Order: sequence, then structure tokens, then C-alpha cells
Amino acid sequence: MKKNTMTLTNNMTGDSYEYKILEGTRGSCVVDIRTFFADSGMFTYDPGFTATAACESTVTFIDGGKGELRYRGIAIEELANNHTYLETCFLLLNSRLPSEEELYKFDLEIRHRAFLHEGLRHLFNAFPDNAHPMATLSAAVTALSTFYNDHLDMTHEEEFLEMAHRIISKMPTIAAFAYRHSLGIPFIQPDIDLGFTKNFLTMMRAYPGGKMHLCANGHEDIKDVEVRALDTIFTLHADHEQNASTTVVRGVASTGAHPYVAISSGISALWGRAHGGANESVIAQLEYIGSVENVEAFIKRAKDPDDDFRLMGFGHRVYKNFDPRAKILKNLQDELREELNLDTELMAIARKIEEIALSDDYFISRNLYPNIDFYTGIILTALQIPKSMFTPIFVIGRTVGWITQWIEFKKDKTSKIARPRQLYIGE
Ligand code: CMC
Repeated sequence: MKKNTMTLTNNMTGDSYEYKILEGTRGSCVVDIRTFFADSGMFTYDPGFTATAACESTVTFIDGGKGELRYRGIAIEELANNHTYLETCFLLLNSRLPSEEELYKFDLEIRHRAFLHEGLRHLFNAFPDNAHPMATLSAAVTALSTFYNDHLDMTHEEEFLEMAHRIISKMPTIAAFAYRHSLGIPFIQPDIDLGFTKNFLTMMRAYPGGKMHLCANGHEDIKDVEVRALDTIFTLHADHEQNASTTVVRGVASTGAHPYVAISSGISALWGRAHGGANESVIAQLEYIGSVENVEAFIKRAKDPDDDFRLMGFGHRVYKNFDPRAKILKNLQDELREELNLDTELMAIARKIEEIALSDDYFISRNLYPNIDFYTGIILTALQIPKSMFTPIFVIGRTVGWITQWIEFKKDKTSKIARPRQLYIGE
């Protein structure tokens, strides 16, 4: 009879060890090697965790081969097309979509919590104008922990949720303040009359007093189509399983540090261009390429093993078919092309890169497809969002995912401090 175990044999000594194979509800099985060191006196070696599952989770499911992504069992296509970002936040935190009444209450609470303590507002003045908003954001979120000391010994569901709602609600305000500080222009306070996404766009764009700019036709307000596009971008970024920044958040959580400090560490991890920083690098790279005629030369560089140049917005550790988030954004781009005036030179360069890369053997053989970051920049540029704010926008969307994973870690009785070992090769 077949057993659901795996036997590992040490060919140097002939010793054998048997380990259970655990089955999840979907996706790959895992071999439970928790006793491996105690059994064999050896560690497993897996730099970059390419073959390691570090936790059990019920939050997000990804099938990288099929290009499938689900939050709490619901397909990302369903959420992006038929639900708002706030509904998605509620889903991640509560494992189900809200009723109409629950959504009303949740929305109201998020609006009310968006204001920052005056002391925190003054903190922004301490940073130089040319600070990258990601650095300011990470520092301000660490500072937020100084205002909410009560959250170190949470035991009740309500305390977890209050802490989560607060950070979800304040993140857009902190991000918009970081941006406005970098321009040296007055902060715009959150407007209680506005929903989550429109409020953020207003805090980014408005003149003091919360007014939009005047144009030939009168007062130019934020368009519904812009709110919908950004709301979808937030939904697509809401969670992504055990990615680098979430792994950092869980790692900090494992030491017992404050949840907002864990989130701040996640922000720092996200900043790098191999992760969330790629969305800023994609547009910087398109600008650097400069024109459609130059695309072939850059594709050649991306394929050259002696050149460090990589095509930003291509490839993914998990998706080896296509990134379903990228597919949704590509459709959204096509849909919004006219309304948001997307037919720019940058768009033409991006289309050329996509066309060549998708038919080139180098990219096909390595399963390198456009990822989410390849498409966000073009849409965000059309929404008048500057490049330096692309990754902070990723942060706003991902905050709910980080905090949901933080809560899951805290509630998991089997969780332990993250403490990997090493293969020592020094003196
Ligand atoms: N351009 C050219 N070649 C690439 C690229 C690229 N963007 N990405 C991977 N490769 C090549 C790489 O050189 C290697 O080739 P070879 O086998 O000949 O040495 C092969 O593909 C495998 O690459 P890898 O670095 O071992 O793959 P990884 O899974 O460790 O890295 C990645 C994944 C996303 C870091 C990488 O594809 C990359 O650097 N992409 C560009 C940055 C980017 O767009 N990041 C955003 C990821 S999506 C947003 C998020 O969830 O964070």
C-alpha cells in the first residue's frame, strides 16, 4: 500500500528517515521536515526559499503554473471586476465578503480613522525634501507605533481588527503626506465625505482647501474612471501569499515586535526593484529606452548573460505561465485607452517590448512574461501619479495583506521565531 511519506536516505551512512507528506486544500503537497535536524544532525539548504513552505495559510492561493490567484478562495478576476478594494479588505480580514450593512459600517470606520495625530504630522518636516517617499513612509509607519502602544498584547479579535483598520485607513494619508512633503506643498487632510480611493487621489492632487484645479470648463474633479482604475490596482496588490515583504512582516512578527514596526519592515522590503520597486523602474526604463526604434537593442542587452540589464516588469518567481494580475491590468489598459489618453510614446515602447519579448525564445524558454508591474506604471502615469509614488501605491494596496498575514501568524499556535541556519564556509 502507498504511504503518504517520503524517505530520505543518507548515502554516506546508510541511515534512512521517514517524513510525512502534508496535503493542503489546493496546490502542491509539502514534506514535513520539522524533525530533520533532530533526526539527522543536518540542516536543509535552500537559499531564497525556492523549495520551502514556511507556514500554513488560509489567506491567498496561487497556482503559478496555471496563472491562478485567489483571496480566501475567491478568484482575483471576480474581485477585480465585481467588487471594490474595501470589500476585498473586508474579505481578507474576515474570510468572507461583507453584507451591505457591514460594508457601510466598515467604510465609515475607515473614513473616520484616516486622520493622523498632529505629532506624527510634524514628523514629516524632519525629512529632507528630496527623500524618496518609500523611506518617509517606512519611517512614518514605525513612528505610528509610538502612538499606539496598546497593541503589543492583543488577545481579542476586536483588538486585532481595530489595529488592522487603523493602519489600512491611515496608510493613504501617510503616503500622500510623504509625497506632498517631497514637493514642499501643504498637506491636504482626509475628507470624511470621500471614499477610500477618491480620498487618496484628492490628498495627492488637490490645492489647499481640498479644491481641484480650475480649467477652461470650470472646476475639474477627479473622474470616476480614474477612481475605478486605481481601486482595481489596489485590489490586485492586496495580498500575494508568502512574497519577500510578507515573509519579512512574518519574520518581525515572530520576534513579538509591534505590528506597525513589522509593516514598516515590509515597506522597506517592498522598496527594492526586484519586488515592489519594479513598478517605478519599469517607467524609468521605458523613459531611458526613449523610442520604439531603440527597443531591439535593449532586448538584446536583456538577453546578454554578461550584461546586468534586466527587462523590468518581466519574470516572476511563482508565475511561470502568466501573471493573472497583469492580464487584468492589460485589459483595463485597453478599456481605458481613450478615456485616460493612454496612447503615449511610453505606451508604444511598452507594446513593442511586449510584442518582441513574447515571441522571443530567450523569454519563452525561461517563462518570462510581463508581470503586474509592467502595466501599472502606464495607468498610474495617466492618473497624474509621479513615478516616485508607484511603490507607495503598492504599499497602500498591500497593507491589508501584510496585516492579515500578521494576524494569522499571531493566531497560529505552532508559529515560532524565524531562525534559519547556515552552511558555514569561513575560517
Ligand atoms: N529580464 C531578463 N532576464 C531575466 C529577467 C528579466 N526581467 N528575469 C529573469 N531573467 C532570467 C535570468 O537572467 C535567468 O536566466 P539564466 O537562467 O540564463 O541565468 C532566468 O531568467 C531566471 O531568473 P532568476 O533571477 O533566477 O529568477 P527568480 O525567480 O529568482 O527572479 C524576479 C524573479 C522577479 C526577481 C526576476 O524575474 C526579475 O528580476 N524581474 C525583473 C524585476 C521585476 O519585474 N520584479 C517584479 C516582480 S512582480 C511584483 C512582485 O510581486 O513583487
